[in-house]
Amino acid sequence: MDAKGYLTEASAEMEAAIRSYIPDEEPMRLIEASRRYPYAGGKRMRPAMVLAACSAVGGDRAKAMPLAVAVEYLHNFTLIHDDYMDGDEQRRGMPTIHVDFGMPTAILAGDALFAKAFQIMTELEIDGERLRDVLKYVTKAVWDLARGQEMDTFNEGRIVPEEEYIETIRLKTSVLFAAAAAGGAIVGGADGETVRAIEAYAMALGLGFQIFDDYLGVCGDPSKTGKSAGNDIRRGKCTILVTHAMESIADAAVRDEFLGILGDADASEERISRARAILKAAGSIDYARQTAQRKVDEAIAAIADLPPSRDKDFMIALAEYAIDRDV
Ligand code: IPE
Ligand code: IPE
Ligand code: MG
Ligand code: MG
Repeated sequence: MDAKGYLTEASAEMEAAIRSYIPDEEPMRLIEASRRYPYAGGKRMRPAMVLAACSAVGGDRAKAMPLAVAVEYLHNFTLIHDDYMDGDEQRRGMPTIHVDFGMPTAILAGDALFAKAFQIMTELEIDGERLRDVLKYVTKAVWDLARGQEMDTFNEGRIVPEEEYIETIRLKTSVLFAAAAAGGAIVGGADGETVRAIEAYAMALGLGFQIFDDYLGVCGDPSKTGKSAGNDIRRGKCTILVTHAMESIADAAVRDEFLGILGDADASEERISRARAILKAAGSIDYARQTAQRKVDEAIAAIADLPPSRDKDFMIALAEYAIDRDV
């Protein structure tokens, strides 16, 4: 199964719905800011996961469409705020919202997408108990995401243990994948045990995905990722690459050199390249990729008992794609 092919099909399936919820309204400037990320696309991994999980448990995926759109809007809301918090200027190959519209509009566009996501979920045609279960997952995800983002930004410029990095990415990234997958399964009528297995799959996938994303942030090609590379280093983000390097660089001079680059907001491309070379020599790049692979193996194992289907195959392929992509 080719994850990219399924993602392309699922994106086409949801495109009209994604575009249908933000009508022209005054002030159009806010509408344009709110539309930019959802209309630009992106990989659509989370909403595809909603639809796939729903089908994989035997549900009618059309019923899960409002949840798929809501999850994508929530993801886009967090991206708008995240780009401001991270001081990033490029996303999906375009200027970030705060760059083109200013910080107040970026905050509002995020808030607007957040509100819209919950409005869309009122369209879910499922019984009250299932709707409550979906809302529990989604609201917990957004709450945890805020906690994770707080940890992520508060830890800029600090070195934290690997366990704290993992907890941060669990909260900032995995919980939304988990809400997507578990939510899709709930809409599809899954029993509790199946929902929990699918949640465990998405939690582990999210960890692998974010670890790989942190690798891409250092080693990725900006013309492919659509995001600038090296900024995690300039901001002093304590990713798994850094936690590993701090435990592995034996030479004090090299360690100091690396720490001198980490957190240097004005570090030149040459200095970023040097930091990359130090991480490589320390084995931190390989370590990150191996750790991401382990998480993905866990994710795939978690759904071993799902009955065979094209959607299950996609879920497996998606986990592999999470750590084998250049976008
Ligand atoms: C970016 O997510 C934010 C992270 C959690 C790393 P994606 O890489 O899924 O972004 P899009 O939606 O494909 O642009
Ligand atoms: C984004 O994390 C996670 C969110 C919850 C929005 P990052 O800040 O690491 O991701 P990118 O690199 O900006 O996409
Ligand atoms: Mg960011
Ligand atoms: Mg961030």
